[in-house]
Amino acid sequence: MNSFNEEVNRYGTHSVKWDHSEDIYEKAGLLPMWVADMDFRAPEEVISVLKERVEHGVFGYSMPTDKTKNVIKEWLERRHNWAINTDWIVFTPGVVPAIAAAINTYTKNGDKVLIQSPVYYPFRDMIEKNNRVVVDNPLVLESDTYKMNFQDLENKLRDPAVKMFLLCNPHNPVGRVWKEEELKVLANLCVEHNVLIISDDIHFDLIFKGYRHTLISTLSSDIASNTITCIAPSKTFNLAGMQLSTIIIPDEKKRVDYQEYMGKMGLFAPNPFGILAVEAAYTHGEQWLEELLIYLEENLNYLTSFIKERLPEIRVIKPEGTYLIWLDFRSLQMDHLELETFIQNNAKLALDEGYIFGDGGKGFERINIACPRSTLQEGLERLEKAIHELK
Ligand SMILES: Cc1ncc(COP(=O)(O)O)c(C=O)c1O
Repeated sequence: MNSFNEEVNRYGTHSVKWDHSEDIYEKAGLLPMWVADMDFRAPEEVISVLKERVEHGVFGYSMPTDKTKNVIKEWLERRHNWAINTDWIVFTPGVVPAIAAAINTYTKNGDKVLIQSPVYYPFRDMIEKNNRVVVDNPLVLESDTYKMNFQDLENKLRDPAVKMFLLCNPHNPVGRVWKEEELKVLANLCVEHNVLIISDDIHFDLIFKGYRHTLISTLSSDIASNTITCIAPSKTFNLAGMQLSTIIIPDEKKRVDYQEYMGKMGLFAPNPFGILAVEAAYTHGEQWLEELLIYLEENLNYLTSFIKERLPEIRVIKPEGTYLIWLDFRSLQMDHLELETFIQNNAKLALDEGYIFGDGGKGFERINIACPRSTLQEGLERLEKAIHELK
């Protein structure tokens, strides 16, 4: 069993979460439990392949080979029941740049792009920074589960200026793993209204027991032709800094257009470590992933019991996937800026403020539980102390 309990010191590694939190939050002494990477070492097989490559000592231009593509194809077949053609693959330095490239390839200035807030905030950012217009189809919280509002979606899809839909599956930050039935309704509506789906499935390997992830492109060939799927081993194996993502575009014309845009950006040669890490993780990482999923589930159970017994003011929105947990603090009756100050100044935690994911996130916080149990315990105890001091 991999030692996920090991506290790896990440200071001094240029880590966004550990080295840069003080600058980003403009406060010292916060325990960082925000940005979506894990505090765990990657699988040993990945580390040893990278060590060997470093020892080689020559770091010239590199490109993925057929082997890289086949390893990805096999992963998708084995774990996600999708038989792709390796020609459909395009590589990008990340999923966020891939989404930005899709916006630029398939829409024009002023076109409208749909999102479902509260959602991973770079979706809105990429749309707005590229001079397109955000249209929101907010998720609806029904008892403890977020649902899609299909009636509102259909009304918005009728607007001919809406050209694209950004799907987040599993959904960050609310933790839904969308069901096949939900995805079918959504995808058929998009096909009917000729709205292209960009499906961000970056968290697709991180699914809790009892749930199953569906790639929207597996639903039908019409849906696959109308979808750009974005995946990566970066969340699964903690390789985000390696910056190599896989974009799958079954429709030939759409793929050629996308590749042309990537060419315009001069993006053709990823770094050699990313390529090797992808190959090694998908080839040798499965056992590690199974152990990770058990550890994450145990962390989730720890958090849920802690909150139930010691912090009943907070409600956990039960996640179906990802290691990002959406916590409802609304019973504290603070506005979103008071809550932000409370979390940072009183609890001494660096979390992701709910409101950055959209207005529906006001009163919520997102906590990252992909850390050793000791870190999670420390974070929850800080929160407990701060809440008790309120009374
Ligand atoms: C839904 C989602 N998409 C994309 C990313 C980032 O992708 P990348 O680092 O490949 O740009 C994240 C990271 O948190 C994410 O949660």
